[in-house]
Amino acid sequence: MTGVRIEELLPEHAEQVLGIYQAGIDEGNATFETQAPEWAAFDKAKLPGHRFVALDDGAVLGWVAASAVSDRCAYAGVVEHSVYVHPAARGRGVARALLDALITSTEAAGIWTIQSGIFPENAASLAVHARAGFRVLGTRERIGRHHGVWRDVVLLERRSPIVS
Ligand SMILES: CC(C)(COP(=O)(O)OP(=O)(O)OC[C@H]1O[C@@H](n2cnc3c(N)ncnc32)[C@H](O)[C@@H]1OP(=O)(O)O)[C@@H](O)C(=O)NCCC(=O)NCCS
Repeated sequence: MTGVRIEELLPEHAEQVLGIYQAGIDEGNATFETQAPEWAAFDKAKLPGHRFVALDDGAVLGWVAASAVSDRCAYAGVVEHSVYVHPAARGRGVARALLDALITSTEAAGIWTIQSGIFPENAASLAVHARAGFRVLGTRERIGRHHGVWRDVVLLERRSPIVS
């Protein structure tokens, strides 16, 4: 991770961020989505203050961003996140550094739970999240269709030990 900086995800990173998103989508085990959104839709859905890029000499290596899960007061401190790393930058701790930045920013803002749904076939994502302190809640069976195929989703969450 020498030389890699974690910074706020800004509009100037949009093209690279969405390209990395599409590369992850195309691999088939990251999300039910089949097409990365336009920047405007991405920007609208992601919470300000909880979106980061890993940069190496101006190149985006990966990104993380969180969205609200509900507008009900009880869930005001619960968010859902996505993390994507460029195929050429994997296995170097980039996702871990991005998750650490998200955990720090959310805890500082009083957000107590980060959740995510991960395909059981996505071994790398399950490993990264386990290392970052997420626990598995269970598996939703055949919860949605992806390219016409029913897929299971493992639900994970990280409850902050310091937000109370
Ligand atoms: C999942 C993903 C984000 C991981 O990014 P990464 O930068 O390669 O992960 P890191 O290098 O930070 O790895 C963090 C930990 O997970 C482990 N890990 C990473 N990939 C792994 C794999 N394929 N199998 C087992 N463990 C793995 C690492 O060994 C590391 O553990 P350590 O801290 O004990 O050394 C990346 O593979 C990716 O972008 N995939 C496509 C998009 C996607 O699936 N996103 C998640 C959607 S839920």
